[in-house]
Amino acid sequence: MFRHFEEELNVIKSQKLYRQRSTVKDKKIFCSNDYLGMAKNEEIVDYVTQHLRKINTIGATGSSLVSGYTEYHEKLEHILSKFKDKEDCIVFASGYCTNIGLLQALGDEKDAFYSDKLNHASIIDGIKLSKASKYIYRHSNMEELFGLLEKTRKNHRRAYIVSDSVFSMEGDIAKLKELVEISKTFEAYLILDEAHASATVGKGIFDFYGLLPEENVILMGTLSKAIGSQGGFVCADKIVIDYLVNKARSYIFSTALGLPMVLSSIKALELITANLNMYTKALKQRTKTILNIVKERGFETKDDCNSPIIPIRIGKEDEATALKDKLLEKNIFIQAIRYPTVPKNKAILRLTSSLSYTEEDMNCLHMALKSL
Ligand SMILES: Cc1ncc(COP(=O)(O)O)c(C=O)c1O
Repeated sequence: MFRHFEEELNVIKSQKLYRQRSTVKDKKIFCSNDYLGMAKNEEIVDYVTQHLRKINTIGATGSSLVSGYTEYHEKLEHILSKFKDKEDCIVFASGYCTNIGLLQALGDEKDAFYSDKLNHASIIDGIKLSKASKYIYRHSNMEELFGLLEKTRKNHRRAYIVSDSVFSMEGDIAKLKELVEISKTFEAYLILDEAHASATVGKGIFDFYGLLPEENVILMGTLSKAIGSQGGFVCADKIVIDYLVNKARSYIFSTALGLPMVLSSIKALELITANLNMYTKALKQRTKTILNIVKERGFETKDDCNSPIIPIRIGKEDEATALKDKLLEKNIFIQAIRYPTVPKNKAILRLTSSLSYTEEDMNCLHMALKSL
């Protein structure tokens, strides 16, 4: 009955791209997105537990436009819009839902998206869901982006440039000044995905460059990385948020974010706002230490330690998997990332830096990489 599925799976296996879920037990994890250690922060656990007892509610019980929107969702949106220096905010049930809802809602047949080749899958899927035209420019290639807009902008009503702020696999930072300038030249909106930039490189990419977001900027972000929880959000002008409330299908037709996630995000953002400088400095220092270990061992990686993502560039899919397995034998888990998450033959081990690592963790990582 399921022969066709099996045949397709066999093709994936023959390409060394087969994936399986596995529980990671008793291993030291060095590839999570919990950059600030918020996912296991005791103060946050206490705060959430106490509040849950008080309100005696777990699930949101309905979509935001029916019964799911609470004073806690409202509070979280208020905190986020302040944190991102924007007028208003809307919180979705996940980062993936945010991008597909945002892009589906903003673009129709008359519009166009100009998207970086290395943007996250949720951006690619969101653009597909919209009915807009799409133009892909080579990674961070501003000349190509300019050329595409010069040639095609006149054919479209609204134009959106879309880019990750910190790219999720390579950890490099988008060329913000150029993106802003080009967006203004061509009267385009600029959508930035701050999933890996929020609270890691400052408040986000604008903070990193010492700038404030302009009016045409729409900031998307997730609660699932440095904020240590789950969910996604968009911060923008009131009118854009109002538009999303009315048009974003993944918002309208999905249950609102659960209360434990809302509460933990509120508390995490309180800690982040109070200690942002300290956290980002410490994270950068830790990234530098890990990057030095990786370079010392002779692996190909990136040069700067601005973001906490450290790709160990391997290339061949099976070599990346073999290296991951070798590290597992030494109690270290760094997932191998293969096509289609990264291009074919560009497999990496996606090592990340985090304030959650202890001295002992750091020593283990050092010893394990050294002994390979
Ligand atoms: C750049 C980027 N955007 C969006 C998402 C989706 O976020 P979430 O995992 O919260 O659904 C991710 C997740 O990895 C991401 O890396």
